[in-house]
Amino acid sequence: MSDDNKKKEIDDLSGVETTGHEWDGLKELNNPLPRWWVWIFIITIVWSAWYFVIYPSWPVPGGATEGASGYTQFKELAHNQAEITARQEAYLARFEGADFETILKTPDLYAFAVAGGKSAFKDNCATCHGAGGQGAKGFPNLNDDDWLWGGSLEDIHQTIQYGIRADNWDTRDSQMPAFGADELLERSEIDAVVDYVLTLSGGKQTSSHAQGMQIFAEQCAACHGEDGRGMRELGAPNLTDKIWLYGGDRETVYETVFNARAGLMPAWNERLDENTIKQLTIYLHELGGGE
Ligand code: HEC
Ligand code: HEC
Repeated sequence: MSDDNKKKEIDDLSGVETTGHEWDGLKELNNPLPRWWVWIFIITIVWSAWYFVIYPSWPVPGGATEGASGYTQFKELAHNQAEITARQEAYLARFEGADFETILKTPDLYAFAVAGGKSAFKDNCATCHGAGGQGAKGFPNLNDDDWLWGGSLEDIHQTIQYGIRADNWDTRDSQMPAFGADELLERSEIDAVVDYVLTLSGGKQTSSHAQGMQIFAEQCAACHGEDGRGMRELGAPNLTDKIWLYGGDRETVYETVFNARAGLMPAWNERLDENTIKQLTIYLHELGGGE
């Protein structure tokens, strides 16, 4: 097989020196490595030596060698985070000090409020009011200009802080009586007033129209207004606009008058901080506020 002590010999055919290795008459030529390969090899060695010195690279107990540059990805991350936090804090400080009017007039504070309000809405309110605030049966649409309790910034702010029929002294509170369940009206009287209510939004008059109108004036107008357009101090919906919280078909309206509904909206002043409530207020005002 091979014999390393053999004298160097030159291959006849290629004129290249052999290594002296031979297998069954096949000889191994001793061609030099290509130059480009050798250079890349050297460069990688130099580069790794440089990297070894500059960057943290060698694992040691409790971490790695520090590296001459002092660079670590942790430090970079911490640096970036500190920058973001500082920027947020600067916003929050200005936001905290600003009243609604100032925020509306200052584009970057306004954008900050809407973005924060949008995400707080998703986290806290969307379960009841829908992801885009579109509402559902019994949960008002917050996108439109129709407000039960008022759509000004102050109104919305108060509603969010203290809720509606919630468990605190400042909550918005008014309660429609259950006219049927509590036997305040006969069934025939409820029939009449329900038919009357339906005419307010374009329904056909029935033979009991006059009776219904009178019952409405006596029993309902105190909250819903003589013309049925509702009253925001009492959260009594407008009954003439075809926008229904619980539904405008005869059966549903009958059910509302018979049993009443008393929708409940939780108070948020103890669950969310004032900045978040302010952001939510501005976000909702932007969605469907006004006035
Ligand atoms: C548990 C369900 C529920 C959750 C959660 C909820 N709401 Fe409500 N919300 C209601 C109900 C029900 C009403 C209507 C009450 C009524 O009959 O007046 C309401 C009414 C409102 C109103 C008044 C609408 C108007 O037309 O005047 C606003 C504003 C409002 N919610 C904002 C919010 C915000 C902001 C959040 C999140 C922080 C939220 N809600 C979370 C149930 C909920
Ligand atoms: C003490 C005030 C009060 C009185 C009196 C009152 N309501 Fe209401 N009504 C309300 C409130 C508040 C609501 C909001 C719904 C809720 O309770 O969640 C409402 C809701 C309604 C709704 C549901 C509207 C919708 O959009 O789905 C109908 C219909 C209605 N009332 C009819 C009547 C009729 C008819 C009478 C008289 C027989 C009457 N109400 C008397 C306060 C009142």
